[in-house]
Amino acid sequence: MKIVSFGTRPDEVQYLTEWSKRTGNELKQITATLNEDNVDQAAGYDGITCMQTVPYSAALFQKMADLGIKFLSIRNVGLDNIDMDGAKAAGIRISNVPAYSPEAIAEFAVTLTMHLVRNLGQVEEHLRNNDYNGAMHYIGRNVADCTVGVIGTGRIGRAAVKIFKGFGAKVLGYDPYPAKNSDIDYVDLDTLIREADIIDLHVPGLPANTHMINAAAFTKMKDHVIIVNTARGNLIDTQALLDNLRSGKVAGAGIDTFEYEEQDLLNLEQHGNFNDPAWDEMMQMPNVVLSPHIAYYTETAVRNMVEISLANLMGFLEKGVAENEVTQ
Ligand code: NAD
Ligand code: COI
Repeated sequence: MKIVSFGTRPDEVQYLTEWSKRTGNELKQITATLNEDNVDQAAGYDGITCMQTVPYSAALFQKMADLGIKFLSIRNVGLDNIDMDGAKAAGIRISNVPAYSPEAIAEFAVTLTMHLVRNLGQVEEHLRNNDYNGAMHYIGRNVADCTVGVIGTGRIGRAAVKIFKGFGAKVLGYDPYPAKNSDIDYVDLDTLIREADIIDLHVPGLPANTHMINAAAFTKMKDHVIIVNTARGNLIDTQALLDNLRSGKVAGAGIDTFEYEEQDLLNLEQHGNFNDPAWDEMMQMPNVVLSPHIAYYTETAVRNMVEISLANLMGFLEKGVAENEVTQ
């Protein structure tokens, strides 16, 4: 078979190359993310594997169909950037990698949390300004004494619950579909928002979840709450978050997935700049940790993303079924 990989990142090359050698399938690697303007580079290939957070549009799927390519196998979990109606209309079948390493993302969420509860951003800022004494006055909180609210207790949320429980924290969970046979202490969303010292988000960026953390939710939260989002940027109303950071109601925020990421990345790709006033303001706040959507980024995760995505694609091509076909 002839496969083409778009959005190929440097750390994926070895796994893609090894797979190609091991299986004898031809694999072309393209660094650019996939869109309707460059999909013709896949002409003559049987299927596409890709990873990106910029959109997969209806126009792209129509062009894939025109090229006779029926399968797109994404190397990640989230489906929020895919025009699923467009894919269906063009007859394109899609698979994802639902679990490449839930622990990677959960551990990163906990890392952001630990950074924030011990005020390391403020400490670092003082030290950078040669103010050793000033750096000593940021008293922290024990996670063990905190109530952690985990919103979304799927694969990643459950991994986060396990780690927070390991610290001895009281953990509350909210999920419309609670995990079966789990020891998670489920409450309704309102209770979680009111009682948590730390709020950790692990829900998909479905349109229905857009701004689930909005101005009204911030009003209900405890003073000096910490909020961590490694799920999707649209879950938090960023302007409301900024208001609450400025007022001091929110003590700290860890944002791996930023609300305007998609547009900002398109600007970066097309114009070479990532000019975003909300991002710039948060970058200046020592009690905010921003990261460029890298919660997933571990060796285990990258290897699994490549291997599982290619197994899905070969399933489509050789048997007509992929283990992780997206059917929604
Ligand atoms: P999952 O499908 O296993 O779990 C998601 C859970 O969220 C489900 O249990 C679902 O019932 C629940 N949910 C949906 N809407 C909800 C709501 N409004 N309130 C509470 N719970 C709700 O998915 P997962 O593997 O745990 O991944 C979660 C998300 O993490 C992905 O959709 C993706 O957006 C994000 N993610 C981010 C990274 C990263 O690198 N930052 C990497 C992988 C995944
Ligand atoms: C996901 O797997 O959904 C992620 O957010 C990871 C990212 C590299 C797209």
